[in-house]
Amino acid sequence: MAENLIIAPSATKAERYETLVPQIESLIAGESDLIANLSNIAAALKQTFNFFWVGFYLVKENQLVLGPFQGPIACTRIGFGKGVCGASWKEEKTLVVPNVDEFPGHIACSSDSKSEIVLPAFKDGKVFLVLDVDSDKLNDFDDTDAEYLGRLMKVIEASA
Ligand code: SME
Repeated sequence: MAENLIIAPSATKAERYETLVPQIESLIAGESDLIANLSNIAAALKQTFNFFWVGFYLVKENQLVLGPFQGPIACTRIGFGKGVCGASWKEEKTLVVPNVDEFPGHIACSSDSKSEIVLPAFKDGKVFLVLDVDSDKLNDFDDTDAEYLGRLMKVIEASA
């Protein structure tokens, strides 16, 4: 396992993701425990991008339950179709929300959260977790985040 994360300080966002994704692959290689791996992935994303909130919600029966994360304390349970996370689960797709106040049913775990991206990961054809990243700035996520975080979800699916 890598002991230190390499982060290029002056790199573009895409370059940072290019450096990060293979490091995460090697970080979780050889460890079979999902929670241990999700914990290190949340930490690596926080270290690289200093996201306001970054973490996972895991599908347990008919709810999403809070998993490993970095950032302020958060809601522990989210219903199917509820909020951005529940909508991503229900619609089985990545959702980029430039202004959370304009998303019907957004769940405000923190009033400082302004924009958000949520991506689902699949096991046996079903969503088994979502990655949620929140920013305290409006319109902070774009196609680059969707593309590279999508690659990260494939890495998680391959290891789960
Ligand atoms: N805002 C999310 C809830 C999770 S927290 O932001 C960490 C939502 O609407 O699903």
